[in-house]
Amino acid sequence: MSAPLPIVILTGAGISAESGLATFRDKDGLWEGHRVEDVACPDAFRRNPALVHRFYNLRRAGLSEVEPNAAHFALARLQHEYPGEVTLITQNVDDLHERAGSASVIHMHGELRKVRCDLCWRGREWEGDLDTETVCPFCNRAGGMRPDIVWFGEIPKFMERIGRALDRAGIFAAIGTSGHVYPAAGFVSMAAASGAETLEINNAGTAVSSHFDRHLTGPATVQVPVWVDDILNRFGK
Ligand code: APR
Repeated sequence: MSAPLPIVILTGAGISAESGLATFRDKDGLWEGHRVEDVACPDAFRRNPALVHRFYNLRRAGLSEVEPNAAHFALARLQHEYPGEVTLITQNVDDLHERAGSASVIHMHGELRKVRCDLCWRGREWEGDLDTETVCPFCNRAGGMRPDIVWFGEIPKFMERIGRALDRAGIFAAIGTSGHVYPAAGFVSMAAASGAETLEINNAGTAVSSHFDRHLTGPATVQVPVWVDDILNRFGK
């Protein structure tokens, strides 16, 4: 039995697709009927904050209608049973990894269930709706509250921590992400440069498929448990 290599996992919208959450770039290229640039960039929020609030209010409320799937549960099992380090990075703003039992999930694009105030920069967890009149619970001013989501043109979160994990990675797996959005799309090259073995799990080819050593092609709910079982079997789990 070999020593457990540090594993770094990047997940995207494809891992939550079978839970019923829409991905960004499949089919018509619209996200729940909207062009991404009309709801997911700071300009869109300045132009039409009511529309952007409504859009994210629906997404936040929709979380209570979906459940984690077999792929989320398999990754949580990997985190609990693998004898080495497992870093789980997600581009997803849903909370399905946490609800499947994963700990320390790195939400590089923010979280639907978190909001922050642009006037005082403080943030907190949030279950209900936001609107242009919502009063900040910290500074008591209205008009500054927004979803704590990283929009196009904004800087992803936790990049230093992610960089350190990629430097140490022995295995890097990207699951259900199309490889169109950087910096996440570049993680495979960073991990490969650190000597990691790289694996892509997706039901289709992606913009960066050629950068991976190995591919498991098929639905995440099938392929992720297969991969996790394979790794844990090597350690007698
Ligand atoms: N199993 C495996 N892969 C799947 C499944 C499935 N059931 N369903 C879809 N996929 C794959 C698609 O083939 C595609 O490659 O998931 C990927 C989803 O790609 P995108 O919709 O582009 O989502 P993602 O890569 O997470 O987007 C990155 O873009 O708009 C931004 O900030 C947003 O975090 C998001 C980022």
